[in-house]
Amino acid sequence: MSRDVTNLLYLITIVTFILALRFLSHPTTARRGNWIGAVGMLVAIVVTFAQHAVVSYWEIAVGMIVGGSFGAVAARRVRMTAMPQMVALFNGVGGGAAALISLAEFHNLAPDPGSLKTDISASIMLSAIIGSISFAGSMIAFAKLQELIRGRPIVYPLQQPTNALVFAAVLAAGIAIAAGSEQQWLIWVLVAGAAVFGVLFVLPIGGADMPVVISLLNAFTGLAAAATGFELENNVLIVSGMLVGASGTFLTLMMGRAMNRSVANVLFGAFGQLAPAAAGGAVAGATDGQVRSATAEDVAVMLAYAHKVVFVPGYGMAVAQAQHDVHALAALLESRGVEVSYAIHPVAGRMPGHMNVLLAEANVPYPQLKELDEANAEFSRTDVALVIGANDVVNPDARNNTASPIYGMPILNVDNAQQVVVLKRSMNPGFAGIDNPLFLNPKTVMLFGDAKESVDKLTSSVKAA
Ligand code: TAP
Repeated sequence: MSRDVTNLLYLITIVTFILALRFLSHPTTARRGNWIGAVGMLVAIVVTFAQHAVVSYWEIAVGMIVGGSFGAVAARRVRMTAMPQMVALFNGVGGGAAALISLAEFHNLAPDPGSLKTDISASIMLSAIIGSISFAGSMIAFAKLQELIRGRPIVYPLQQPTNALVFAAVLAAGIAIAAGSEQQWLIWVLVAGAAVFGVLFVLPIGGADMPVVISLLNAFTGLAAAATGFELENNVLIVSGMLVGASGTFLTLMMGRAMNRSVANVLFGAFGQLAPAAAGGAVAGATDGQVRSATAEDVAVMLAYAHKVVFVPGYGMAVAQAQHDVHALAALLESRGVEVSYAIHPVAGRMPGHMNVLLAEANVPYPQLKELDEANAEFSRTDVALVIGANDVVNPDARNNTASPIYGMPILNVDNAQQVVVLKRSMNPGFAGIDNPLFLNPKTVMLFGDAKESVDKLTSSVKAA
């Protein structure tokens, strides 16, 4: 295949990746985006095989069959709540692959004195460092989320100075390589040191902050892939790596903004280190009010005779897998003439778009999903806000209590509705580990129990009302 044809096909591939991102940004077109991206990737692989002098096709085929089968089975089997750790695992192996290519390229080029040009040695150095950090950091993120190791921040004295020292050593090895040193041991020190740094850097970050860290590591993997593209002189790898790097960076910043936390606070703040009782004690007036609990029958009467009900899903709906039951209840209410919508907080659940994905799976009509600002504008004319396993994203302390760790985070103002019903199993806190004065608000009643069971009881009781 001529170089021109190859470049033309690579250009088409790049366009498909950009279109894929465009379509993926809206739930109604996301599937199409996924397909377009997958087809583009297939074209890129075929063109690369046709272009380069491949040493052994069968070895690559074995790798593709093993890796592809693992990926397909894992993607089909994974539960929605375990999606963040699967993304961490897949992202980590991408970073690891970039680091391994750097090792191989350095090994191939360095023995031939003078063959290692500065731009190539700098690319090798960058993809080895960033890829190794991404691989090791992602594995720790996976282990935390899978509860293979403690999810809470692991902190010890002189942690940040130790991390800085390890990183300085890695950087020194990198500069030596970029400056032209062709010693093989240097690249091994660099890869091992960067992997140690990746582990140390993620250990002090709390398990619940992992989605933000994974998104950042995802951006790292993209940059490592782009650097690999320079090493291999492959345009499509450079552009697709940069697309991953840029979109991962945006996603990280957007998640931080939705939690009102800087990326530095997520990375170095050891959020979640406080024991729940200590953190809860910071909530002003939390013990003044009374918790009122209601039965499903009481709540069903409120719902059945309401004009407008807003469902507010959170992490608990995902744990209970209650999305289909929630849609069935909503449809029943609509058939009785009740106006129904869903208020979606950008960081409800544990990953970006968590609630949108679950509700789309349950075939909830997309126009009924309201984003933060639109939803907040509707609460004052809402009869019942039905909070299903959400906690932090409806905590009024974020608005009113300057001492709260989540002060400043934009929330869904469910307390502006006429009545609030909260479905959860106990008075336990959510991800932030803090009390929620909403539960003590005179407008609020609690319906205790697993969200799926409670919603099913509500549906039966509304039918009987
Ligand atoms: P959370 O504040 O974590 O609260 C979830 C609540 O669900 C808990 O209080 C829990 O109470 C309840 N629950 C758990 N299992 C349940 C079940 N089977 N049935 C009924 N209730 C159940 O959730 P949220 O309001 O969605 O907030 C998300 C939090 O995660 C935010 O603090 C956000 O900053 C953080 N976070 C989100 C992301 C993204 S991208 N979404 C990323 C990182 C961090 P019980 O145990 O009493 O039932």
